[in-house]
Amino acid sequence: MSFTPGYLLQTLTLALLLSSVQASQNVSLPHISSSPTNASQVIDPRLASFSMEFSYLPTFGGNKTHPNVLTQELMQRLVERTGVGPDVRPGGITIDSSIYSPNASALELDMSPSGGIYRTTYGPAWFESLDVFSDSSPIVVTVNLGNDTISIARDQLATHIKTIGWSRIRALELGNEADHYAGNQRPSTWGSADYTAQYLGWTSFLTRNLSLPTHIFQAAGFADFWSVKEVIGEGITTTNTVKVFSQHTYQYSTCDPARNAIATLPNLVNHRNITSFLDQWKPHIAAAKQAGAEFVVGEYNSVSCSGKENVTNTFGQALWLADTVLYGAVIDISRLYLHQGATLVLQSSTQANTPGFSWYDQWYPTTSDRFGDPHAGPSFVALLLITEAVGSSTKSQIALIPTPAFPQLAVYAIWDPTARPSRDGPARIAILNLATRNVTATPEQVDEESVVLDLGGYVRKGKGRSATVKRMTSTGLDATDAGAATWAGQSYESGKANGTLVVEGLSAGKVTVKGSEGVLVFF
Ligand SMILES: *[C@@H]1O[C@H](CO)[C@@H](O)[C@H](O)[C@H]1NC(C)=O
Ligand SMILES: *[C@@H]1O[C@H](CO)[C@@H](O)[C@H](O)[C@H]1NC(C)=O
Ligand SMILES: *[C@@H]1O[C@H](CO)[C@@H](O)[C@H](O)[C@H]1NC(C)=O
Ligand SMILES: *[C@@H]1O[C@H](CO)[C@@H](O)[C@H](O)[C@H]1NC(C)=O
Ligand SMILES: *[C@@H]1O[C@H](CO)[C@@H](O)[C@H](O)[C@H]1NC(C)=O
Ligand SMILES: *[C@@H]1O[C@H](CO)[C@@H](O)[C@H](O)[C@H]1NC(C)=O
Ligand SMILES: *[C@@H]1O[C@H](CO)[C@@H](O)[C@H](O)[C@H]1NC(C)=O
Ligand SMILES: *[C@@H]1O[C@H](CO)[C@@H](O)[C@H](O)[C@H]1NC(C)=O
Ligand SMILES: *[C@@H]1O[C@H](CO)[C@@H](O)[C@H](O)[C@H]1NC(C)=O
Ligand SMILES: *[C@@H]1O[C@H](CO)[C@@H](O)[C@H](O)[C@H]1NC(C)=O
Repeated sequence: MSFTPGYLLQTLTLALLLSSVQASQNVSLPHISSSPTNASQVIDPRLASFSMEFSYLPTFGGNKTHPNVLTQELMQRLVERTGVGPDVRPGGITIDSSIYSPNASALELDMSPSGGIYRTTYGPAWFESLDVFSDSSPIVVTVNLGNDTISIARDQLATHIKTIGWSRIRALELGNEADHYAGNQRPSTWGSADYTAQYLGWTSFLTRNLSLPTHIFQAAGFADFWSVKEVIGEGITTTNTVKVFSQHTYQYSTCDPARNAIATLPNLVNHRNITSFLDQWKPHIAAAKQAGAEFVVGEYNSVSCSGKENVTNTFGQALWLADTVLYGAVIDISRLYLHQGATLVLQSSTQANTPGFSWYDQWYPTTSDRFGDPHAGPSFVALLLITEAVGSSTKSQIALIPTPAFPQLAVYAIWDPTARPSRDGPARIAILNLATRNVTATPEQVDEESVVLDLGGYVRKGKGRSATVKRMTSTGLDATDAGAATWAGQSYESGKANGTLVVEGLSAGKVTVKGSEGVLVFF
C-alpha cells in the first residue's frame, strides 16, 4: 500500500468527519409505538391553511385577467403534496369596516393621510381574486360585525354564498376579534355575554333570512380577552349554529415597545416557548370537542402588528412555523390559518412598523420598496415540510415523541395507514432541531448543536428496505436570503423548485440534524 497524497487526503477527511460526529449529541429516543395508540385525531390535510387580510386579498390573488402568478405557483406546491388546496380566510381587522356594493370596483379603500384603512368597499370583481386558489381550497367567509348593522352583514353573506357557492364554503364568520370592540365599535362595557347575545340574535335572523344550514358558523375568533369556554358557558351552542370555534394566536408582538423588546429570534425559535404557548388552548379544544365542534386557530402568526425585521423574515420563522403547526396538530387543533398581509397603520399608535408587506409574510406577491420583486421568503419551505409530513391521506395521526434531555429538539411521529400498514410503525418522523445555528456559527458551534438520531429500528423489515430523508435547511437561523432556504436541496423563491432535488438516506440507520434545521424521514 503506497501513501499517495489522495489517500492521505481521504484519511484526513475521514478523521475530520469522525471528530465532527463525536462532538454531536447522540439522542436516544423512547420507543415509538407501532400503532397510533396515543396520537392526535386524524389530521386534516388542510392543517396548514391561510388567513389573508381582507383588503389585501386582491394584492395576493390578482384577478381574472391578471392572476398573481407567484401566489398561484406557491399554492400549487401545497396541492401537489396534500392533494387539496389549503383553506383561505379573507379576514382580519379590515373586515369590520367593510361593505359590499354591487356597483363598486374590486376594491375601494378610504384611507387616512398616514395610510390607515378606515373603510373597504368591494364589488363583484373582488371575488375574482379567489380564482387564484385551487377549486379545492375551501373559503371561510368573514363579514362585518363591528359596524353593528345586520343588513351590511346580510348583504355580504348573501353575495358571498351566491358567488362562491356552498361547495366551496367552509364556514361563515361574524366579525374579527370582537373582544377588541369595547370602547371602539361598541360601548366600553361590551363583554363576552354581549357578544354571545348578539351572535345568537344575528345567527337566528340570518339562518331564517338566508335559509342557512345548521352548524355553519365559525364562532369566537377572539384575540386576547375572551375564551371559547366562556361563550360556551353563555349558551352560544344552544341554537346549533356553531360548526367551528376559532381563536387567534400571536405569540409575540411589535404593537408596543414592551412587547417589541422580547420579540427576538431566540425567544421565538424555542420549542418550550412554542409548546407552552399553544398548551393554553387545551381546555378550549376539549370544550369545543365536547360541544361537537372543531377548534381552529383562525388567524395567527409569530409576531403581531405585521412581524419584525430580521426576526420574522428569517429562516427562523420557518422553524417556528413548522414546530407550531405540527405541535398544533398533536393537541388536536384542526387547522391553523397563517395570516398574510401588510402593516395596518391604524392598528396601534405605538407599533414599530411602517406601511408595507408584513415582515412575517411567507411571500411578497407584488413588487415593493421593502422586498423588491415578487418572491417567496425564507420561511415558505416550512410549508413543504409540513404538507409532506401530513401527506395526502386523510388518515394520518401525529404524536410528539418526548426528548427531555434535549429541550430544543422536537420529534414528531406520523402514522399513515395508506403509506405504511397500521401496527407496522410510523410512516414518517419529522425532527426539528431548534438549537441556534446562526450564519456566523463556527464549525465547533455547529458540531455542538448537531444531533444524531438512530432510526434504524423503524425501517421496514425485509430485503432492500430503507428510509429516505428530506432536509429543510439554510445557512443559518438568522439568514434572510430566500435562495439559501432549501427543502430537499431546492429553494422556492420563484414559487417553483430551483436546483437539484436531494433525497438522502439514513447513514447506518442514523440521521444527523444540525441546529436550526429540520428533516422529514420517510419509512
Ligand atoms: C456519539 O456516538 C458515537 C458512536 O456512535 C461516538 O463515537 C461519539 O463519541 C458519541 N458522541 C458523544 C458526544 O457522546
Ligand atoms: C400517552 O400520553 C400521555 C399524556 O401525554 C403520557 O403520559 C403517556 O406516557 C403516553 N403513553 C404512551 C404509551 O406513549
Ligand atoms: C385586474 O388587475 C389589473 C392589474 O392590477 C387591473 O388593471 C384591472 O383593472 C383589474 N380588473 C378588474 C376587473 O378589477
Ligand atoms: C347601483 O347602480 C344602479 C343603477 O345602475 C342603481 O339603481 C343602484 O341604486 C346602485 N346601487 C348602489 C348600492 O349604489
Ligand atoms: C357603518 O357603515 C356605514 C356605511 O359604510 C358607515 O357610514 C359608518 O360610519 C359605519 N359605522 C361604523 C361604526 O363603522
Ligand atoms: C331578508 O332580509 C332582506 C333585507 O333585510 C329582506 O329584503 C328579505 O325579504 C328577507 N328575506 C327573507 C326570506 O326573509
Ligand atoms: C422564551 O425563551 C427564552 C429563551 O430563549 C426565555 O428566556 C423566555 O423566557 C421564554 N419565554 C418568552 C415568553 O419569551
Ligand atoms: C436588519 O439586518 C440588516 C443586515 O444585517 C441591517 O442592515 C439592518 O439594519 C437590520 N435592521 C434592523 C431593524 O435591525
Ligand atoms: C444569533 O443571532 C440572533 C439574531 O441576530 C441573536 O439574537 C443571537 O444572540 C445569536 N445567537 C448566537 C448563539 O449567536
Ligand atoms: C435559482 O437559484 C440560483 C442560485 O441560487 C439563483 O441564482 C437563481 O436566481 C434562482 N432562480 C430563480 C428563478 O429563483
